[in-house]
Amino acid sequence: MSVSPSPSAVAADAPVAAPTQADLLDFVRRTAADTELISSLPLDPEGRTWVRLEGPGGSEAWLIGWPPGTGTGWHDHADSVGAFQTARGTLKEYSLAARLPADGWKTLELADDVDRVRSLTAGHGRAFGRHHVHEVLNESPAEHAVSVHAYYPPLPGMRRYSRTGRVLRLEQVERPEDWQ
Ligand SMILES: [Fe+2]
Repeated sequence: MSVSPSPSAVAADAPVAAPTQADLLDFVRRTAADTELISSLPLDPEGRTWVRLEGPGGSEAWLIGWPPGTGTGWHDHADSVGAFQTARGTLKEYSLAARLPADGWKTLELADDVDRVRSLTAGHGRAFGRHHVHEVLNESPAEHAVSVHAYYPPLPGMRRYSRTGRVLRLEQVERPEDWQ
C-alpha cells in the first residue's frame, strides 16, 4: 500500500526562499529588542566580544560587543547581503556609495562624493547590498555598544582595505578558514 505525502510533508520539502535584506533587517531588529539576550553577551573593556546566533533561512548572525574606541577597519562582505542594528550605545558607520571593481586592482582613488556617514543609536539599524564597503566604530569615549548582525549567504570571505585620504588599498582577502 502506498502512502501519499501529507500537505505538511510537501511543505517541508519545498525549497526555502533565501532571506532578503528586509528579512535580515527584521531579524536584527527583533533580536536587538531582546533585552535578555543582549544582556547575556559578555563584555570586555579591552576588546570586542561576540556570540554566534542562528540567523533566519541559514544566514550567519552575530551578537557583537564594542568597547569604547573599537572598530572594524574598512571591509566588505563579498557577495553577501546583510543588516545590523544597534542594541545598546551608538555605532558610527562610514561607508562608500560606490561600486568597486570586483578584482584586479590594488589601489583605487575614490571620487569626492562617495563618502557617507551615519550614526546608529540604540534601536536603529540598516540593511546593505552586495559589495557594500564600510567601517563600523564605537566612537564613544565611555560607553560600550552592542549590536546584532546578519549576513546571507554566510560570509564566503571579506576583503579588508586600508585608506589614506582618497586612496583605498586592498590589504587582505580573508576566508572563513582564517577565522577558525
Ligand atoms: Fe561589515
